[in-house]
Amino acid sequence: MSADAKTNDVLEAPRLGEPYLLTPGPLTTAFPVKEAMLRDWGSWDGDFRGMTAELRRELLAIAGDGSGEYDCVPMQGSGSFSVEAMLGSFIPRNGKVLVLMNGAYGQRIAQTLKYLGRAHVTIDKGDYMPPRGSEVAAALDADPAITHVVVVHCETSSGILNPLREISEAVYGRGRKLLVDSMSAFGAVPAGVDDFRYEAIVSSANKCIEGVPGFGFVIARKSELEAAKDRSHSLSLDVHAQWAYMNKTGQWRFTPPTHVVAAFLEALRLHRKEGGVAGRGARYANNRDVMVAGMRQLGFETLLGDEWLSPIIVTFFSPAHPDFKFERFYELMKAKGFIIYPGKLTVVDSFRIGCIGQMDAHVMQKVVAAAAESLAEMGVDTATPPALALAERARLAA
Ligand SMILES: Cc1ncc(COP(=O)(O)O)c(C=O)c1O
Repeated sequence: MSADAKTNDVLEAPRLGEPYLLTPGPLTTAFPVKEAMLRDWGSWDGDFRGMTAELRRELLAIAGDGSGEYDCVPMQGSGSFSVEAMLGSFIPRNGKVLVLMNGAYGQRIAQTLKYLGRAHVTIDKGDYMPPRGSEVAAALDADPAITHVVVVHCETSSGILNPLREISEAVYGRGRKLLVDSMSAFGAVPAGVDDFRYEAIVSSANKCIEGVPGFGFVIARKSELEAAKDRSHSLSLDVHAQWAYMNKTGQWRFTPPTHVVAAFLEALRLHRKEGGVAGRGARYANNRDVMVAGMRQLGFETLLGDEWLSPIIVTFFSPAHPDFKFERFYELMKAKGFIIYPGKLTVVDSFRIGCIGQMDAHVMQKVVAAAAESLAEMGVDTATPPALALAERARLAA
């Protein structure tokens, strides 16, 4: 591919006949991102050390750290490894955590704390209700032993965008510290150090920056990184040790995912070219708006009201029609080039459609057309959900 073709292609359709991944990651990546993996790198070599330094610099720039108060520490593994590394490194062994839960990833945080043996309490809002600042404030006022609050930014299991600003204000207004799992939001939703206050935030390579899976990263206040020395329960998940070694040698402590890093630098270039967080967020929001409007025209209903719909992933109720079977709908959509995602609600059947990755409104219109065709092939003449689902949603809105 010529250099010109490369720089002109911010948005690339899959070239290899692959289906689009309408999922929260791994997601559909640009061709140049895949192409960047076609060479090998020595992990100790100066070129690769330069790539690691660039990656850290760029991520700090996305986080808007102008003051140099924060640093970025990439960690090998999937996103959960970085979440666990953050919790084990920044929460003192005698600390106490308030976990805000409204879905699977909040629950995973509580489960991780259990493994780590850190005292914790939870506010559990069920499948999708947002934890509010006032509830956090009341919980912190009631329990002075709580030192840290941990929250998921976009709870990917329902697609809700949690109100981070009001939560952060409640936390710091009471002198406590906030740690954020921004896995599926960072890069497309404002999550910079000036957007809301936090000590550390985590995301991974294969979400809104649109890289391939293989590492996560922690952006943390340097004072917290210093304080984390000798605290971690784990050798490989010790954020302080990775940070100190990387600063000293420019290298990762253990084998780095070299090709993933190379792909990620290309993904960062495309992210910059698209206009950074604002540009990427605008495309995803437009993807959501086009897709949701089209699906509603077919009779589908979203789990969440517009106020809480993230530009990342949207949950739809499954239609009440007796001939609608998700497994068949999935296969029909896949045959048309779109991989959708099962739902995670406990009360009613649902499925999810992601808005992130190398897709635009044009693609989302095709997704809606494919959904209409798939319904017709199943003999489903309306996508209206069951009354129970609508009652559940009305309860949420009340
Ligand atoms: C909010 C959130 N947290 C944590 C994770 C876990 O990441 P991984 O599956 O890469 O371990 C995900 C994955 O989608 C997520 O969306």
